[in-house]
Amino acid sequence: MKRENVSGLFGKAQVGYVLIESERLSDWRRFLQNGVGLHLASESDDLLAFRMDGHQRRLIIRLGPAEDVVALGLHLLDTTALDEVKARLCERDIPFNPGNPPDAALRGVRQYWHLNGPKKLGVEFFTEPLTTDEPLWMLPSGFITGDSGMGHVAITSRQPEKMRRFWLELFDARISDAIEESIACLTLDITFLRLNERHHSIAIAATRGLRMDPIRTRIQHMNLLVNTMEDLSAAYRRLIDLGFGMAHEIGQHPNDKEVSFYVVTPSGFELELGWNALTVSEATWKPADYYGISLWGHKPRNATLGNFITTNAGNFRRGMKSLLHPEFSPL
Ligand SMILES: [Fe+2]
Repeated sequence: MKRENVSGLFGKAQVGYVLIESERLSDWRRFLQNGVGLHLASESDDLLAFRMDGHQRRLIIRLGPAEDVVALGLHLLDTTALDEVKARLCERDIPFNPGNPPDAALRGVRQYWHLNGPKKLGVEFFTEPLTTDEPLWMLPSGFITGDSGMGHVAITSRQPEKMRRFWLELFDARISDAIEESIACLTLDITFLRLNERHHSIAIAATRGLRMDPIRTRIQHMNLLVNTMEDLSAAYRRLIDLGFGMAHEIGQHPNDKEVSFYVVTPSGFELELGWNALTVSEATWKPADYYGISLWGHKPRNATLGNFITTNAGNFRRGMKSLLHPEFSPL
């Protein structure tokens, strides 16, 4: 049967929610409520849920041992887009399953579908978020979501070609640009993919030459965007005062021009909090290659020689160990 002709899925998907699993719920509460300044929407012994806009849930922390992001929820525009994603998955024999009602409620959506995405990151999709017009109690003046969704995620991969294909073929992602970055003795190639007008919703980083994955978690960092520079500055001061470790001080990226800092979350991966990330005009955008992840700043906060050596030695050890295990890809 011929499918309804849709003009593609570009611009019809955005990051809707992020589901994290951790045993450090009280640390996550301090981190997100008192540090980042999100609205705590729900709290129990085994769950925290946070709002940043009219969605009932944007960040969900479930009690569990992973200390990682376990699922990325993609908000699809409508049922035509939903049917198209399902059809593309069927064509490629990629299994996916509907979530049950309690799990949908946990995510703050009416209904969702789940698949094992690249690197075993749960990729979930839905069309109907549960919303509320209850007032927000947040420390920043606001977070940027809207039609481009919530921030982005950055993922390290030993199979970046397959991981790129996943986003390009299933969601019609477009490549915004690429950055080459040197860290210790390694060269990293980072590709930035957009699902909509946000410069990137997904970034994929790979080591050049011998492909290693030095990162324990499925994502290296997740990103949220605040409204103003004052919001960014105040969140930075609060997180430092609360004792959370800064991975990289404030700096600016050359491609999306975002000003941001990276703080270590209670689960060990990083949260990039940013401001002023550009949106792409499809009529005029030209992909480019950049050298160096930062125009200025983003220096490691604890930049002692000892810290540099132990951090890189740890990453190198993990990178070498990653060679022993294949990386899961649904494609
Ligand atoms: Fe980022």
